[in-house]
Amino acid sequence: MLAGGAGLLERAAGDLRRALSEENDQPDAAGGPDAIVGAARRSGGAGQKYLRHWLPSDQRSARLAIYNSDDELRFEESGRRDAARIFPYLSPRSTVLDFGCGSGRVARYVAPRCAQLWAVDVSPRMLQLTRERLRETANLRFARCYDVAIPDVPSASVDVVYSFLVLQHLEREDAFLALRELRRVLRVDGIAILTFPNLLADIYLEGFVHYALSGEVTNQARARVYTPQEVERVLPAAGLSVVDVEAANEIVATCRPVR
Ligand SMILES: C[S@@+](CC[C@H](N)C(=O)[O-])C[C@H]1O[C@@H](n2cnc3c(N)ncnc32)[C@H](O)[C@@H]1O
Repeated sequence: MLAGGAGLLERAAGDLRRALSEENDQPDAAGGPDAIVGAARRSGGAGQKYLRHWLPSDQRSARLAIYNSDDELRFEESGRRDAARIFPYLSPRSTVLDFGCGSGRVARYVAPRCAQLWAVDVSPRMLQLTRERLRETANLRFARCYDVAIPDVPSASVDVVYSFLVLQHLEREDAFLALRELRRVLRVDGIAILTFPNLLADIYLEGFVHYALSGEVTNQARARVYTPQEVERVLPAAGLSVVDVEAANEIVATCRPVR
């Protein structure tokens, strides 16, 4: 199981994200979120659709929103474990992109094994927390995602893209557009490792039923579930040819650009 994503955890993390976004609707309090977050929050409009749910005030609050646990050791351990999935595709010359990096849970362990790692997130606050947490890591570059676009990352410049526990938080159509964007930045011989929550797993079916019964359909940050067949169908439509699909609680898809 991938860390942090499954059913009950996701549900509790969803509750916390909703609480965070409600908190973020309040006017700035003295000593509250800093200027970058305030500006992002106030700007609204294009590129901000997913932002308001992902503005944690500190590392602890980020851990809770991402992993639903305050336990720092478990958070680090999960990052190490998920990073190990990426290791086989890395070389010291690789350029890597972590899409929806959060506070750098996985990036912390991937960055030392590659030449350069793009930390990409819709939330400037998450990017800031990654910068803080990984301040010893010299090969990071940071880029904002605006809904589904990453304008700062050049086309065909990335060897390895990975994205854990992110695409599920986008509307399906937006996830599709984000996949096309990830295809754009990948080199022709690049590889992408992506996760989706598996509707066929009991725990995510249970989460889906919970969302339905509790009126969570208006919660922008809720998890959208997929079947493995849907993933296999959607990826090629987005220009990514499927190399492997592993389906447990999470669906982990490995894919390459369609030539
Ligand atoms: C559950 S967290 C996962 C964080 C990280 N991938 C990990 O596994 O630790 C989801 C992350 O996706 C980011 N996110 C949400 N919508 C996004 C979008 N449209 N584009 C890029 N990142 C997005 C959030 O800001 C948050 O950092």
